[in-house]
Amino acid sequence: MTSQPLRRTGGVFAEMHQALMAINIPFHQLDPTTVPSDILGLVQATWQQRVTTEYRSIQIMNRFMTEVLGAGDPLDVYAGAVDMIEDEIRHTALCAEVVRALGAQPMLPEPVVIPESDAFLAMPMMHRALATAISMLAVNETLSCGFIEDLAARCEHPIIGAVLKATIEDEEGHEAFGWEYIRNSLKRFPDDSLPEWKAIAQQALTAQRSQAMAVLNEMSPEERTLDAWPDTDLIPWGLFSPQRQALVYEKTYNEVLEPHMKDVGLL
Ligand SMILES: [Fe+2]
Ligand SMILES: [Fe+2]
Repeated sequence: MTSQPLRRTGGVFAEMHQALMAINIPFHQLDPTTVPSDILGLVQATWQQRVTTEYRSIQIMNRFMTEVLGAGDPLDVYAGAVDMIEDEIRHTALCAEVVRALGAQPMLPEPVVIPESDAFLAMPMMHRALATAISMLAVNETLSCGFIEDLAARCEHPIIGAVLKATIEDEEGHEAFGWEYIRNSLKRFPDDSLPEWKAIAQQALTAQRSQAMAVLNEMSPEERTLDAWPDTDLIPWGLFSPQRQALVYEKTYNEVLEPHMKDVGLL
């Protein structure tokens, strides 16, 4: 099946959507002809990729909401979970607006439904909630925070920069929620289950780590510094080179992810 467009319907839905967005970025001021023609395709494809991953984030956060409710988690956990679903809807919409402003049609992921493994679905809700918190909230959110932070700090484009900054402000809260949830939830499981949780964390790291390592291994020692990759042609459009991205991965892993994982006992 080919992917379908991410549509809007208007009317009362548009008002509720606008209330959720809570931010007005003048997307009409983003003129696709101002993007150098040799990178326009790459810029559109990268922002479409972000639509896909943010949409997946809505779905995973929504699944997490079902899991914490099914686990009978403490009442005050739910507000954070709802908040994260709303944030991911906002991120998806912001990325979709960028795609549209760049002259392309934002698309849904394909398949739209996330294929979940039977083994995952068979786990008790308390297990599923902790597995989701480890893979999504702790590992993936921490790494994507690192990437967006690096882009947001250097992007001065009025529209693209505003999208990156609005996104990073939300994401930072998700990370904090994740670590705290993991710390508390782990106490409910026997000590001898810890290797299982550590394995889930390692599995969540695999894809991004192997991608980054493949790039880092091709780089000379002089190239292994962020200053060697200013990416001045890409940064205004919210993109960086694979080399800079790999270096940011390494930095985020060493300075943020690894210490937090050790702190909660996942390393
Ligand atoms: Fe997000
Ligand atoms: Fe997020």
